[in-house]
Amino acid sequence: MDLPVIRERAGSVLALALKRAGTLPDGITVDGFIAAATNVGDFDDYKVFPEQAHQIVKQVAAAGEEGAARAFLRAAIAQSVINAVTGEHIKQLPPLVFAYHTRQLARISEDHELDSEWLNLGHDLFHKEFGIATFRLYAAGAQLVDRRCGVPRSYMFKDGVAKSVPHLATMMKLGGFRPYFQIHTHSFMLDLFNEPGWEACYQGCVELYGLYPEVLGMFGASWFYDPAVVQISPRLSYLQSTPLNNGAHAMYVQTGGDAINNSLSTSPSRRKLYDEGNYMPKSYLLVWGKEEQRAWAARTLPPTLPLA
Ligand SMILES: CC(C)(COP(=O)(O)OP(=O)(O)OC[C@H]1O[C@@H](n2cnc3c(N)ncnc32)[C@H](O)[C@@H]1OP(=O)(O)O)[C@@H](O)C(=O)NCCC(=O)NCCS
Repeated sequence: MDLPVIRERAGSVLALALKRAGTLPDGITVDGFIAAATNVGDFDDYKVFPEQAHQIVKQVAAAGEEGAARAFLRAAIAQSVINAVTGEHIKQLPPLVFAYHTRQLARISEDHELDSEWLNLGHDLFHKEFGIATFRLYAAGAQLVDRRCGVPRSYMFKDGVAKSVPHLATMMKLGGFRPYFQIHTHSFMLDLFNEPGWEACYQGCVELYGLYPEVLGMFGASWFYDPAVVQISPRLSYLQSTPLNNGAHAMYVQTGGDAINNSLSTSPSRRKLYDEGNYMPKSYLLVWGKEEQRAWAARTLPPTLPLA
């Protein structure tokens, strides 16, 4: 979809959403919310929304009818998409990220649902959709890339003192704990969750190092980085084998927690192993240094650009 078409569609959604939001309280505007919500520090990840943004939404909710705040947040996403496709930043995006990001902006511009329960400042889906629309997150293949992140130092010690020594040495060799790109799965982008989609993510990170040369590498944390997953769900082994065979490092984070629901919710076979006591989901962090990731990209065929 061309940028002018995305703009036009987002404009229709904006008009619809503003109508539903009703008369806004004095001094409250969608542009004001966007400015407040994107006024973040160098290491505020995509989930951080300043207090002023929360206050604006509270005022809209208090003054409007049922659903006014959700419609206001939909309007904020739509206006951000318009800003994205008409602004300067999109022109600076490297080709692969431009193609994948535009594809997500096109998808968002077609979403005119005003009552989605995730249209809520506390919801991860809102954080991700708003993050894409405002370039707080970049879409790169199967993943979203957050540039304002660091590897938590506490993770070095999760697997005991003995393992902390090589983990710390790894981080020192990579140049320190921040800044890194952190990658995230988005449930509205699962059509890209496959091996080519992940390779496009890594290639997208390599492109983004050009825009953000200070970034030291990429990291993610998930149950699918658990070495046990290679045996029990070999279909997913590419998620760890591509990075780990090309210079990435894995570190244990924790047993259970969110990993249980994330790992078991879609897979009857993992659920069965868990119920039988033969599998307990664990989270691992995977960190891939910039130079190693670049070397992998140089050895790998570039992905085909997606159609927006
Ligand atoms: C991460 C996720 C997207 C991976 O999905 P996936 O590539 O379809 O892989 P899964 O192993 O989860 O597949 C689940 C089921 O889909 C089916 N399936 C997946 N890929 C298939 C394929 N290529 N052929 C046939 N069936 C397939 C199978 O029935 C499989 O169940 P099984 O494991 O019992 O065989 C998915 O597990 C998910 O949405 N999890 C919840 C959210 C989450 O974990 N997010 C990441 C947080 S870090």
